[in-house]
Amino acid sequence: MPEVDERKTVELDNEELKAKFSEEVEDIESEEIREYVEKVSENAPKEFWESPASSSGKYHPPEDNVDGGLVIHSIKCKRIAEKLVEHEMDHGRLNEDDKDVIMAGSLLHDIKQTEDIDEKEIGHGEAGYRFLDELDIGGKYEDIKKCVRYHMGKYSEKPEDEEVQDPSKPVEIVQYADRVASSKEISFLPDIDVSKELIKSVY
Ligand SMILES: [Fe+2]
Ligand SMILES: [Fe+2]
Repeated sequence: MPEVDERKTVELDNEELKAKFSEEVEDIESEEIREYVEKVSENAPKEFWESPASSSGKYHPPEDNVDGGLVIHSIKCKRIAEKLVEHEMDHGRLNEDDKDVIMAGSLLHDIKQTEDIDEKEIGHGEAGYRFLDELDIGGKYEDIKKCVRYHMGKYSEKPEDEEVQDPSKPVEIVQYADRVASSKEISFLPDIDVSKELIKSVY
């Protein structure tokens, strides 16, 4: 099978990425949570808008490893989480309130996944949690912050924590969505068709 590194990537400038991110935020039904996520994104470190999802290029599909790829990854994670939410709701395993928490958590889960973090010291889940905790923008949203803090599951810096061992439903769904969104085998760009030629060249 040929390498998929030639897969088309989008090159969006900062403003376009911010606009795309805001479009996803619009899907959150609760006005309070919507405003919270908007305010967080206004305060997000500039690296969030500019960095590739993986600095080494080892862990993400190629469309995430361009400048701004971290935002693309966050959007993909939310899109996948949305599908998992639909599935869980169809089976009566999730309530309406959790839906917005999951949408917010998936969009914000890598808010501090930037190169200035010393991974060994605290890890980017914990860094994201602390960043949200210290932001003075109103609203506590502990359940959203937990999604950020524990999104790496057993790879988190505190694998022994109860929330890692026995995660809440929103945490679990954000973990699943992130795992799928960052896997090299599942390469996609939301709302962008992949050309037939490219599909043929891959399979
Ligand atoms: Fe992450
Ligand atoms: Fe992620």
